[in-house]
Amino acid sequence: MANKEQSQQWLEQHIERVERVLEQVMPQPTVVPASLHEAMRYAVLGGGKRVRAALVYAAGEAAVQGSELSSAQAKALDHAAAAVELIHAYSLVHDDLPCMDDDDLRRGRPTVHVAYDEATAMLVGDALQPLAFELVANMPVAPALVIQAVAALSKAAGSQGMVGGQAIDCASVDKQLNLEQLRQMHSLKTGAMLEVSVLLGGIVAGASSATRQQLIDYAKAVGLAFQVVDDILDVTADTATLGKTAGKDAADNKPTYVSIMGLAQSKQLLADLKDQACKALLPLGAGAHSLALLADFIVDRDH
Ligand code: IPE
Ligand code: IPE
Ligand code: MG
Ligand code: MG
Ligand code: MG
Repeated sequence: MANKEQSQQWLEQHIERVERVLEQVMPQPTVVPASLHEAMRYAVLGGGKRVRAALVYAAGEAAVQGSELSSAQAKALDHAAAAVELIHAYSLVHDDLPCMDDDDLRRGRPTVHVAYDEATAMLVGDALQPLAFELVANMPVAPALVIQAVAALSKAAGSQGMVGGQAIDCASVDKQLNLEQLRQMHSLKTGAMLEVSVLLGGIVAGASSATRQQLIDYAKAVGLAFQVVDDILDVTADTATLGKTAGKDAADNKPTYVSIMGLAQSKQLLADLKDQACKALLPLGAGAHSLALLADFIVDRDH
């Protein structure tokens, strides 16, 4: 695996890359309806770790196994990377609404419904989602691959993916879930979008079904790990570092890995999931080094 400095550099380069794409694809705040476009830009361009975008790029690299991506494939990865960040941003805007988690801080700034209003926050989410699909539909790769990408992203974002997980989350406040129910909720609400990020990278790169399966095995482990870390950080990190209100899960009586397994066992589960992710990468060889660094980043992050 690349050394720490190279890894850091790879990550920074790809964060900058998707930031540039997002900046370009978001309508300018001067375009009518100006206040909606301003709020969309506020929601999307206001920071974020860009883990999902990085997974798209890293999976694309891994799937071509050391050979160069064509410039059309590189452009298609840009579209896919921006698309997953747009859907993610929409999910956060809605997640923070008073009817859901009722949070007033996100990415170190007031949430969209606080900075603007609730109707605007709803519409921002409503508008970001189709913008994501427009980008995927316009990927410059073979139409069959575009269709596969649209289908995969639709499923991941919908009732059998992220939105389904959010529905279970809302219905689980004040309830005790068993471990299997908790795993299912986390795999849907967070895992599905991380998985599809990896899969989209594979689809754009024209990966075989065997390679896609290896990518998915990796993504299932990091997808779940991501939300386990989110649950842990809610307890161990402070609001300033997180950029969102710490201790919110316990305050709202939400079932989390920490509330159900305790901190020590949650950390052990995390170590197991990281092992699982790294093992899944073995058949992919050296081309998967960026996916390996992202597994480290996801597990070791402090916010
Ligand atoms: C937060 O996601 C919500 C979850 C799915 C746990 P991130 O931790 O990726 O949020 P940003 O994009 O970096 O703000
Ligand atoms: C949110 O999970 C998951 C989605 C937005 C789909 P959380 O509610 O745990 O995320 P945070 O902690 O508010 O970022
Ligand atoms: Mg939530
Ligand atoms: Mg929340
Ligand atoms: Mg959380």
